[in-house]
Amino acid sequence: MSETETPRVKISCRNVWKIFGHDPQNTLNLIQNGMTKEEILEQTGHIIAVRDISFDVNEGEIFVIMGLSGSGKSTIIRCLNRLIDPTSGQIFIDDVDLATMNETEIRMTRRHQISMVFQQFALFPHRSVIDNVAYGLEVQGIPKAERRERAWEVLNMVGLKGWENYHTYELSGGMQQRVGLARALAVDPEILLMDEAFSALDPLIRRQMQDEFLNLLTQVHKTIIFITHDLSEALKMGERVAIMKDGLIVQLGSPEEIVIGPADDYVTEFVRDVPRSKVVPVRNIMKDPAVTLYSWQGPKVAVHEMRQNDVQYAFILDPGRRLRGVITRDEAKQAIKDGITRLSKLVKGNALQIGPNQPIEEVIPLAATSDNPVAVIDEDERLIGEILRTELLLGMTREDNGNDTKQ
Ligand SMILES: Nc1ncnc2c1ncn2[C@@H]1O[C@H](COP(=O)(O)OP(=O)(O)O)[C@@H](O)[C@H]1O
Ligand SMILES: [Mg+2]
Repeated sequence: MSETETPRVKISCRNVWKIFGHDPQNTLNLIQNGMTKEEILEQTGHIIAVRDISFDVNEGEIFVIMGLSGSGKSTIIRCLNRLIDPTSGQIFIDDVDLATMNETEIRMTRRHQISMVFQQFALFPHRSVIDNVAYGLEVQGIPKAERRERAWEVLNMVGLKGWENYHTYELSGGMQQRVGLARALAVDPEILLMDEAFSALDPLIRRQMQDEFLNLLTQVHKTIIFITHDLSEALKMGERVAIMKDGLIVQLGSPEEIVIGPADDYVTEFVRDVPRSKVVPVRNIMKDPAVTLYSWQGPKVAVHEMRQNDVQYAFILDPGRRLRGVITRDEAKQAIKDGITRLSKLVKGNALQIGPNQPIEEVIPLAATSDNPVAVIDEDERLIGEILRTELLLGMTREDNGNDTKQ
């Protein structure tokens, strides 16, 4: 397609509704006439599982849908997979309206384009690990030798080398979910739908799976919808997170946007215990560096500048404004005594440094090891800011009061 910067939309939901019951269309009319969800349930027995949901997922993105049990997450996934049809609204994959697909096309999409990973693994207990993984390829009619080779490759990828011939019931939960993941990946789908895929795992195993999965995604290019009821998992895995409640998306944004600005009381309640420092990036608390000097300047200028600005240190830069070191006022004074005329002689490559998009949390260990200031540098090592200790403390303490943007 085009070479523009704008990401390509892979999946698009437009005003999707799903109502369960014998006459969903009439229920839509009742909603139009102002009947509430509760009235509808009470008077007609219909359940409104998904209400007017719209979102786009970009190619290669990890899009998280988070919400409590019953909020409609699985219903959306099932609509995407055409296991069920929306009551109204449209779903597009690669700009193709799913409603226009015939049975064969739907089947082909499910076999080749979309894979699912479930919470309860859904493995065949009496098949070997490798035959479970090769299942999707078997359905596609791929010859045995070829599908086993592919399955073997994917098993390696998820860290299950050597377990090919075990039965799945012999494996731990974490390992079974690796098999589930390998099975989904074996068909090399463009889209992975993961419905609470890690939710049944013990916390430790679960974190490990999250890390490994994120790592694996640096090797394979997939568009992912990742469903969870766990906020910290959502914030860790998602490039964007949609938070659902009662069938509605109540907020959609980056993890940072959600933690800093929860849209309503419901989201506020979720994010109350999330440390800001885990998601707020360094650039939010960095300041312009107080004193910067070039390496060809001398210690007298350095002392003067630091005194003028009432600070105890200065950053030393090379001609490209790349950071070369930090010098303290005392070191500069000593250098004058020693007859040193250029700061380049004093550069020790000693600056503590961090990138602007790292979470604040990662500055804390740096700041704890030394009295030197922490420099913020861009990809080309150019100095773009500094982190003052007071700002760092504020950035961390704000979380103790819940959230500073809360009204
Ligand atoms: N086949 C169905 N028939 C009737 N109600 C359903 C059906 N599937 C889901 N629901 C209801 O729809 C709502 C949303 O369910 P679901 O999408 O499974 O939520 P989640 O995955 O967020 O836990 C719930 O109230 C659930 O009971
Ligand atoms: Mg569910």
